[in-house]
Amino acid sequence: MRVHTAVVPAAGMGTRFLPATKAVPKELLPIIDTPALQLIIDEAVGAGVDHMVIVTSRAKPAIEAYFQPQPEVIAKLRSSGRDQLADRVEALGRDVKVSFAFQDQALGLGHAVGCAREVVGDEPFAVLLPDELMGSSSLLDQMARLCESTGGSVVGLKEVPHEDVGAYGVIDPAGTLDADGVIPVRSMVEKPKPADAPSNLIIIGRYVLTPDVFDEIAQVQPGAGGEIQLTDALKAQAARSPFHGVVRDVLRYDTGNPLGWLTANIEIALQDPKIGPQLREWLPTQL
Ligand code: G1P
Repeated sequence: MRVHTAVVPAAGMGTRFLPATKAVPKELLPIIDTPALQLIIDEAVGAGVDHMVIVTSRAKPAIEAYFQPQPEVIAKLRSSGRDQLADRVEALGRDVKVSFAFQDQALGLGHAVGCAREVVGDEPFAVLLPDELMGSSSLLDQMARLCESTGGSVVGLKEVPHEDVGAYGVIDPAGTLDADGVIPVRSMVEKPKPADAPSNLIIIGRYVLTPDVFDEIAQVQPGAGGEIQLTDALKAQAARSPFHGVVRDVLRYDTGNPLGWLTANIEIALQDPKIGPQLREWLPTQL
């Protein structure tokens, strides 16, 4: 079955971006002029998704506000001849259905995904962690197709130096990478000590999951960091169903901390046809 729903866990407090995140959710911080959350939606839509489920918290009303129509702003833009911008703002959230689920306790990523259960229903779905931005939809698209053809869950993977694995979920491969970057997964472990890690292939923030994962999440006990870990639920799935990872050479930005967010902004701005040329001239003068 084609994947048409995507879940975005967005209930976190954004402590790494305080004080900005006192009032503005981390997911709405801009990459140039576009909230990171919008880029995540665009990526998902590009992979065939038509229903976004945002898992948020009632302490972050701005996330819901972002999807409300703003007729006064649109009217003002149109009356001043800025139709192109008016069209763009008006289209936000219209090419896709947006639903909300609420996670009012920070119990971990597995718990956050579990909060989306009722809205997702009984079909495969994608999960996109909004701290990571991709340069295109191609990875998610390939993952969705693989889930469709194998009937099992799929995770996005990246090879990192062995000493860096401890901050991530790490897979235990059951074979080798094929020409499409696909690898079968036997098991996985969340935030292992590098010496105990089964590989140097880490799970990046893209998942396409079969809905039985919700039963696994409901049974998972607190793991690494005392949290309900998604990786632990996936490990249980991998033990009894086909499970694959995909390594793909796609641009990826980690915007979960101020330095990563800033460098993503600069890299993306350098390619922007409007501000790129000016930035390119100015940047070397600062070095
Ligand atoms: C989460 C997942 C982890 C994954 C990582 C990717 O960790 O639990 O398996 O590798 O995202 O960014 P977190 O960054 O929330 O600690």
